[in-house]
Amino acid sequence: MRSRIASTKLVIVMVGLPARGKTHIARRVARYLNWKGVSARVFNVGSYRREHIGAHQPHTFFDPTNPEGMAARERMAVAAMEDVARWLEHDGGHVAIYDATNTTIARRRRVEAFFTARKAEVVFLESTCSDPAIIEDNIRSHKIRSPDYKGQDPDAAVADFRRRIAHYEAAYEPLDDSCRYIQTVDVGERVVINHIRGWLLGGVVNLLTCLHTQPRTVYLTRHGESRFNSAGRIGGDTPLTAEGEAYAERLTAYLRTKIDGPGVEVWTSTLERTRATARRLPWKSFPLKALDEIDAGAFDGMTYEEIAKKHPGDFAARKLGKLTYRYPQGESYIDVVNRLEPVILELERHRGPLVIVGHQAILRVLYGYLTDKPLQEIPHLSIPLHTVIELTPIAYGALEERVPLT
Ligand code: SIN
Repeated sequence: MRSRIASTKLVIVMVGLPARGKTHIARRVARYLNWKGVSARVFNVGSYRREHIGAHQPHTFFDPTNPEGMAARERMAVAAMEDVARWLEHDGGHVAIYDATNTTIARRRRVEAFFTARKAEVVFLESTCSDPAIIEDNIRSHKIRSPDYKGQDPDAAVADFRRRIAHYEAAYEPLDDSCRYIQTVDVGERVVINHIRGWLLGGVVNLLTCLHTQPRTVYLTRHGESRFNSAGRIGGDTPLTAEGEAYAERLTAYLRTKIDGPGVEVWTSTLERTRATARRLPWKSFPLKALDEIDAGAFDGMTYEEIAKKHPGDFAARKLGKLTYRYPQGESYIDVVNRLEPVILELERHRGPLVIVGHQAILRVLYGYLTDKPLQEIPHLSIPLHTVIELTPIAYGALEERVPLT
C-alpha cells in the first residue's frame, strides 16, 4: 500500500475579499512546502484573467450583477481548476494552491465538487482582516502597483479598487463549519482551524501563526575564515585565523552602519568559529545547536582530496546527488532541511533585523528558503566567505544585496 503522505493530492482553496493578502499567503505556503520537499504550486485566477481577458478591467467587470463579467470570470476560474487537476494528476504535483476570491458558498461548493470528483482533498484557507490599516496598506503598497492599474493615476486606481472590493463584499458569505478550513485573521494574529489534522497541514498552520508583514532585513554571513578553512578541511571546531578575526572586525563596523533600533537579534551556531565572528556585535546573540554545520560524520576533519582518495565511492555518490547524499554517521542536506524547520519558523516570526552568522551548508538551506530556490539547487548555491548577504522581503519575494567585506 502507498503511504498516505506520498499518495494524497491536496488542493488548498484560498478564500477572501480582495486586498486581504491571499496571494502573499499562497506564495509563502507554497515556498514553505517546496522547501520541505512537497511539490506545491500556486494557480492564481487573476493571472488567467489578465492573460486571457486583459489586465485593465474597471470595477464594473467584478460586479456580481454584470452577466458578461460573471461569465468571463467563471471561464477563468474553470480554466485554472482544469490546470490544477492536470498538474496534480499528470505532472507530479502534490499540493495545489488555488488562489482566487471564492467568496460565495455556491462557488466554494462547485470548486470542492470539481476537485473531490478528481480524488483530491480540499481544504479552504481564508484570509480575513479586521484591521483597516492592513487593508489600506495592502491597497496602496501592492494592489495599485499591480498590472491591473499600470499607468493609472494612483488616486483613481485606489477609488476603483475600493469599488471592486465593495462588489465582492456585497456577495461575500462566510465559511461554514461543514467544510475543512484554516482561517487567518489579521496576518496570523488569530488562526482558526476546523477539521484540520496531520503533519502537512499542521506545518502550514504553524507557518501561518508566524507570518507578519513588518519590513525587516535578514543579514546572512558565514563565519570568518577558520583554521580548518585555511587548511581545506571540513567540519571540526577550530578557532578563527587572523584573517577570520579581521573579518569579524569589518563585519561589526559594517553592520553598525546598517542596523539601528530595537529588536535586533544575532543567531550563531554553537561552534567556536561563528561565536567568535559574532563576539564583537553589539546586539543580543543566541547560539543555536540547530545552526551547527552539516555533520560530516566519519569524514569530519578530512579534506575533499582525502575523501576522494580514501572513499571514492562516497565521493562519487556525493557528486551525483549532493541533496540526498548522507555522510557516513553524519547528515545529508535533506537532514539539514529537516533540522532547520524550527529555525525557519522562528525566522519568520522574528520582526526586527536579524543577523545569522552561520556555516556554508546551513546558509545555503536558509538562503534557498528565503529566495525560494528549488530544493535540488540548494546544495550548489554560492555562499562565499567574508560576504554579507542582505535579504529584505518584498511583496512576493526578497530584495538581495551581496556585500563583500574584504
Ligand atoms: C481576478 O480576476 O482578479 C480575481 C478573480 C476572482 O478570484 O474573483
